[in-house]
Amino acid sequence: MKYDFDRVTSRLGTRSLKWDQLEQLYGSNEVLPLWVADMDFECPPAVKEALIRRAGAGIYGYSTESVSYKQAIIRWFSGRHGWELQEDWLSDSPGVVTSLSLAVELFSEPGGEVIIQPPVYYPFFDVIRMNGRKTALSPLLHTEGRYEMDYGKLEELMKGGARLLLLCNPHNPGGRVWEAEELLRLGELCLRYGVKVISDEIHCDLILPGHKHTPFASLSDELAEITLTALASTKTFNLPGLQTSFIVSGNRDIKRSFDRKLKQLSLLSASFFAHEAVEAAYNEGGEWLDELLLYVSDNVQFATQFLAEKLPQVKVMQPEGTYLLWVDCRPLGLDVEGLKRLMYREAKVAFTEGSIFGEEGRGYLRLNLACPRSVLAEALERFCRAAAPYTVS
Ligand SMILES: Cc1ncc(COP(=O)(O)O)c(C=O)c1O
Repeated sequence: MKYDFDRVTSRLGTRSLKWDQLEQLYGSNEVLPLWVADMDFECPPAVKEALIRRAGAGIYGYSTESVSYKQAIIRWFSGRHGWELQEDWLSDSPGVVTSLSLAVELFSEPGGEVIIQPPVYYPFFDVIRMNGRKTALSPLLHTEGRYEMDYGKLEELMKGGARLLLLCNPHNPGGRVWEAEELLRLGELCLRYGVKVISDEIHCDLILPGHKHTPFASLSDELAEITLTALASTKTFNLPGLQTSFIVSGNRDIKRSFDRKLKQLSLLSASFFAHEAVEAAYNEGGEWLDELLLYVSDNVQFATQFLAEKLPQVKVMQPEGTYLLWVDCRPLGLDVEGLKRLMYREAKVAFTEGSIFGEEGRGYLRLNLACPRSVLAEALERFCRAAAPYTVS
């Protein structure tokens, strides 16, 4: 291994959302945080060097886009995902959630229904409700240890009038990397009922060995026509604090409306730092990412074995992508408050409590495995020790 993912780097005192609010969020600075989806690893060295070079300018004026930035994105998606993008399909946006929110406002009617498949990344609920729309829920089916889409329910919601769907591809939490056949079946329904798709593919590069990401819009020209894809390099390379992302749409009307909205909100100007970082990541971060994925995959195995030995009552869902582990803790017999007490007060760890992903997540916990193995081992040890009394029936 060229990169040392075992190295523990303190993030305390860096204004880290994950590490610097433990007392406020969990009542103690002793809590070990494995919650919000950023990694405790340094980004690829080329990104750090690009940012340091850029910082050296001393004048941080308004910045323009560069051609090489978009080319780096295009090369990456062609090389990694076999998806051939065109420059004029791309627009920058400060964040993926910003894009989702703008797209919900643009492509659904006030009071209209927007389909989501819980348990799902909790801002999906927020961007619908806070825009005055209604969530139309098609819960994922839990089949043989993994999630699947409920096509019957999806069709019922579309028949009932829902005309927009928020897709999480790959899916957070649960780590499903949707297969082409599954997406095609979903796409057929969308085409039949005139449903537009906002596909959040921020986890597209975090694919574990044996699986392959399929960009929804890459499946056919018809599906590209109804889709806005929200993407970012920030999850892949651990750059979320840079607040940069982009959207892709091959449909000119969708793209034009989105760009108008960005202009209306004055979100068009390029960040002084972000483009250099993203360009370096896509041009020079491939090897780092490949090693990261092996490390995360080993962390998945480590956590699975650890829990199987020390706390066999809980059930791990094997992720196909993301660095998140979705653990069914219902056998511990604790309600939401009980799970929080167990984590924050008794075990002194902070995983993400599952009910925020929807009712279907009640009794589950989501562990962020993008940390050095020693940190993961300590968190698991603390959790299993504190959970032991709850396993005695
Ligand atoms: C599915 C999904 N979408 C979006 C985001 C956040 O994206 P951004 O920080 O660009 O808004 C996350 C972060 O965890 C995520 O898991």
